[in-house]
Amino acid sequence: MRPDAIIENTRIFVHKKLVGEGSGHDWWHVVRVTDLAKQIARKEGADSFVVTIAALLHDIADWKFHNGDKEVGPTIAGDFLHKQGVASDDIEHVCSIIRDISFMGGNVKPAPMKTLAGMVVQDADRLDALGAIGIARTFAYGGYKGNEIYNPTIKPALHTTAEAYKKSDGPAINHFYEKLLLLKDRMNTPSGRRIALKRHAFMEKFLQTFFEEVGGFCEEGKREMQLG
Ligand code: ADP
Ligand code: NI
Repeated sequence: MRPDAIIENTRIFVHKKLVGEGSGHDWWHVVRVTDLAKQIARKEGADSFVVTIAALLHDIADWKFHNGDKEVGPTIAGDFLHKQGVASDDIEHVCSIIRDISFMGGNVKPAPMKTLAGMVVQDADRLDALGAIGIARTFAYGGYKGNEIYNPTIKPALHTTAEAYKKSDGPAINHFYEKLLLLKDRMNTPSGRRIALKRHAFMEKFLQTFFEEVGGFCEEGKREMQLG
């Protein structure tokens, strides 16, 4: 099958699975990540076919929603691509990107992406967690999990295991300190880093205003704990 037809079939397959999903991994997240990934791939000279297919399939089954099982996503993707007649090297490449892409916690040393294509897709996925869209997704995810927006008595924690990160039910605002503000220094490519810096600056502005309105973590937190 021609690459264009495989990409189109992949779009249809992923759309069917993720349309309307409510945790921030919906179809439009996939569209944004795929567009960004293609844009970065062009600048960095990465394999455009693998980047596009991996970006489309990267959230097909998130490990956080499958009891921490990181093989569900690669298995679904691999089976699908096999049926499309994709070359086995490309299938393995895409599956390894899906396996390695996820953020596992602020103090968990992640396996580095093994290829330029993987670095590009991971950068694109991380960029969609930053900036205005990143802010929106953070509070959507917090609401989906039933977590609070803000609670000054609970301080952010840098998780040291993927398991603790997955279980985290802290307030959504803590997620900025647990993940989002760390990402600009963890980007893989120069093009990704450039966009990340811009989105990072916008999040800092947002946080500054947020804490002007609600008070900080510490003062309010201390007072409340003493009162309580
Ligand atoms: P992806 O797999 O697309 O990188 P994640 O699965 O880590 O993203 O999370 C989906 C979205 O929800 C992201 O924008 C992420 O930053 C946000 N998110 C993840 N965990 C939390 C959390 N504990 N609280 C608030 N937002 C979160
Ligand atoms: Ni994603």
